Amino acid sequence: MSDLLSRPALMAELQAALARSPAVALLGPRQVGKTTLARRFVQPGSTHYLDLEDPVVLAQMSAPMNLLSPLRGLVLIDEVQRAPEIFPVLRVLLDREATPARFLLLGSASPQLLRQGSESLAGRLAIIELGGFTLQDTGAQALSRLWWRGGFPRAFLAASDDASRRWRRDFVRLVIERDMPALGLGISLPAMQRFWAVMAHFHGQIWSAAEPARALGVNESTVRRYLDHLTQLYMVRQLQPWHANLAKRQVKAPKIYFRDSGLLHEALGIASEDALRLHGRVGASWEGFVIEQLLALAAPDQAYFWATHAGAELDLLLLKDGRRIGIEVKRSDAPTLTPSMRVAMQDLQLDALYVVYPGLRRYPLAPGIEAVPLTAALPAL
Ligand SMILES: Nc1ncnc2c1ncn2[C@@H]1O[C@H](COP(=O)(O)OP(=O)(O)O)[C@@H](O)[C@H]1O
Ligand SMILES: [Mg+2]
Repeated sequence: MSDLLSRPALMAELQAALARSPAVALLGPRQVGKTTLARRFVQPGSTHYLDLEDPVVLAQMSAPMNLLSPLRGLVLIDEVQRAPEIFPVLRVLLDREATPARFLLLGSASPQLLRQGSESLAGRLAIIELGGFTLQDTGAQALSRLWWRGGFPRAFLAASDDASRRWRRDFVRLVIERDMPALGLGISLPAMQRFWAVMAHFHGQIWSAAEPARALGVNESTVRRYLDHLTQLYMVRQLQPWHANLAKRQVKAPKIYFRDSGLLHEALGIASEDALRLHGRVGASWEGFVIEQLLALAAPDQAYFWATHAGAELDLLLLKDGRRIGIEVKRSDAPTLTPSMRVAMQDLQLDALYVVYPGLRRYPLAPGIEAVPLTAALPAL
C-alpha cells in the first residue's frame, strides 16, 4: 500500500532484534500496526505466516510440533496470545542445533503471553513494545493532529475528524465487548462502559479505588482488577510513584493515564481540536500525551512520577543509563522556574530537569534546569 506511513526507527529496532535474538515478540494494543510492520519480513499467504485468528491455522496449532518443526528461516506467528501453550514447543525448536528457524511473534495482549513466554523462553526472547504513531513517525508539523486524534493509524489518518471519531468509538466498543471478556473478566457490558468513562476522568490523577468502586457498586479490589486488565491490554498506563530516601511523606499510589490521547478525547466527548483547547481537562490531556511521547522516544530503563504530601512533585522521572532525568510538562508559552522544580532537583538528585512545553525555543531556567520544546525533547534525552 502506498499510503503507509513509514516507521523507520521501529523497522530498525525490529531488524536489530531479529539479528540478535532467535525469537522476537512484538507486543502492543490491537490495531496499532503490528501485522503491517511484520509483513515486511514475512509475506502473508506463505507457509511461514501463521495467523492464529484464522480458525484453520489455530486448529493446526493443536499439534504445534508437527506444524512448526519442518519450517526453515523466519516464521511469523500472529495473535500469539491465542495459543500461549506453544511457548514450551518454541523453546525446543529454538534449542535445535544451528537454529534452522527463527520466530517473530505478534501479540495484542500482554498478560499470559509475557508470563508464559518469558518464563519458558528466558534469555531467548527479545520483546519490543509497539504503540500508536509517535511524533517521530508523523513529523513535528502533525503535532496538534496527533494529540487530538491520537496515534492509532486509522484514527490519525482518517479522512475527516468525524471518521476518526467514529473509528475510535468502534474500536473502544470492540475492546470492551471482545477483548475484556476474553481475559476472563466477569463484568457486564454496561458496567464496563461505565468503568471506561470513570477512568477517563481519572486521567492524570493519582489512583484511589474508593470513588470508582462506589460508582460501579463493586468493592475496591474488584475495581483494582478491572484497572489491571485495562493496563494489560495497553489501554491504560499506571505510572508508579518514586520513593526517595527522605523524611518527607510521599505519595504511594500509581498515577493513571489513558495511553492514547484520541481514545481519551472520545471518552470525554471532545468533538474537535478547538473543543479540546477549551476543555477543562486540556492540561491533563497534554500531560499524558507528552509523557507517552517521551516514553516511546526515550525508551528509559524505568519511569516514575514523584509527589510529596507537602506539594512538591515531578511529572516524570526517567532512569536511563545510570542517569536520573526529571521531566515537568507545561502547556504555557513560556514556562518559568517554580519552587517545586528546585525541590525535585535537589531531593531526587537529578542529573537534569527538562521542562517540556509546546513552544519553539530552548532556554535555561536555572543550573541543570532547561525549558525544551516537545518537538526538540528527543535530542535532549
Ligand atoms: N504505518 C502505517 N501507515 C498507515 N496505516 C497503517 C500503518 N500501520 C498500520 N496501518 C493501518 O492500521 C490498521 C491496523 O493495522 P494492523 O497492522 O492490522 O494492526 P495490528 O496488527 O497491530 O492489529 C490497518 O488498517 C492498517 O492498514
Ligand atoms: Mg494484527
